[in-house]
Amino acid sequence: MPKWLNDAVFYEIYPQSFYDSNGDGIGDINGIIEKLDYVKGLGCNAIWLNPIYDSPFMDAGYDVRDYKKVAPRYGTNDDLVNLFNKAHEMGIKILLDLVPGHTSDTHPWFLEAKKAKESEFSNRYVFTKSVWDAPPQYRMMCGICERDGNYLVNYFSSQPALNYGFNEITHHEWQLPPEHPDCVATVEAIKDVMRFWLDKGADGFRVDMADSLVKNDDEKVATAKIWRGVREMLDKEYPEAAMVSEWCNPERAINNAGFHMDFYLDHYGNGYSRLFRYGDPRSSEAVFNPNGKGDVKAFADEYLPNYESTKNNGYISFMTNNHDMPRVTAGLDKNAIKLISAFIFTMPGVPFLYYGDEIGMKYQANLVSKEGGFSRTGSRTPMQWNSQKNLGFSTGDEPYLPVDKSDDAPTVENQKDDADSIYKVVTDVIALRHKYDDLKGNGELEFVYEEGKIPFYYKRGNLVMFFNPLGKDAEISTEYNGKVVYQIGGAEFADGKVEMKPQSFVMIEL
Ligand code: NOJ
Repeated sequence: MPKWLNDAVFYEIYPQSFYDSNGDGIGDINGIIEKLDYVKGLGCNAIWLNPIYDSPFMDAGYDVRDYKKVAPRYGTNDDLVNLFNKAHEMGIKILLDLVPGHTSDTHPWFLEAKKAKESEFSNRYVFTKSVWDAPPQYRMMCGICERDGNYLVNYFSSQPALNYGFNEITHHEWQLPPEHPDCVATVEAIKDVMRFWLDKGADGFRVDMADSLVKNDDEKVATAKIWRGVREMLDKEYPEAAMVSEWCNPERAINNAGFHMDFYLDHYGNGYSRLFRYGDPRSSEAVFNPNGKGDVKAFADEYLPNYESTKNNGYISFMTNNHDMPRVTAGLDKNAIKLISAFIFTMPGVPFLYYGDEIGMKYQANLVSKEGGFSRTGSRTPMQWNSQKNLGFSTGDEPYLPVDKSDDAPTVENQKDDADSIYKVVTDVIALRHKYDDLKGNGELEFVYEEGKIPFYYKRGNLVMFFNPLGKDAEISTEYNGKVVYQIGGAEFADGKVEMKPQSFVMIEL
């Protein structure tokens, strides 16, 4: 297990929207290099970079055309190596986004595979044996290539699924078992991509749709076996490299598959969703909604057993948002977002901050979809740096995606020295996480709540964090009292209880 993870705080950068260094309207790698000081200033010591590979951008780069080449619009492979080096000099690690499940339908492997003539790539993707064979339970593209067969797609139609085999064979004519040499060759091809970038200085990968490799694999046993093999390779060849999975099943992802971290994703009705969103952050069922009517039990019942059973093997990762979901500003107010930040950066695991969340960037509803974003486009708008042209994102006349045009658009410039800003809370709490060993990734956790009640607290070593997300005063019974280390709102400790102001957070040291 790479030791650096225990004190890691990640910043997710969506490269096209972060900083445009050459005025062409789109973010780039040199732009990220210029902003490394900023990332460091937040207290983040690691970056997850969304895909930077050559791509037709039908899905923002999750449709890879060349795994080993940086998209020209972002720069060159040398620029990326330069980013690795500069980041490392500043103590910042960089995870690339690995997309192992599918490629673009313009990837050379696919261009070969779709030909009638057989080649070493004929089984790199999943093709049926005839265009008349298109079982409805699979998402197939039908009748559009020279080869007499239909092919499986993973997500969008432009993303043919790579072939890792089928755990349960239901169609003998074309389904291969995961041990088939051609499926093993797919695994080896992805390992080769990983080695390529690790050798150049990458510190690991965020793994896209990590649970989706082997098909008809309900229990994910065969998929986990592949990742276990990848983990063995890392342990042996790159012991400092880390992988975080887009899986949201820590027992499978961490304990079985060997991921170092697993994302707690926003799946409707799960613990994450019930804390922060419940489909829509405006939902009164979301615990952090000031009108909240839910309680933290649903979260605790799901999270705590997962935390207990995986804490010795890896980390569950909370994130403020990501590029796939509406920014939390879509429905919650500034105070709620401050409390959410306090929660995410004081819980165990390895936390992730999505670019722009530190200043409360707004979700831009109703934008015309860009690069396969659809409703996600509103969470992917350019970073807001200052009051200059395009809010400092680009000197170009037309950024590839419009910046927030509202009069009160938050920027780094106007938040940085504002004592009442989200930026202040985010940076303060991250600094506390680095300062106290008790707040590190693997520090202890004792989570305390009363069923049916929203105010709650948790103890980590000598620190206790109290939360009242409600828009009214609330009281919690507690045996703890101590020195206040940090607070939002405020609270008073009386015998055996703490009386908390509306939407408040208090951290005490015993
Ligand atoms: C998950 C990624 O986060 C998302 O942005 C992408 O569209 C799909 N996987 C498909 O790769």
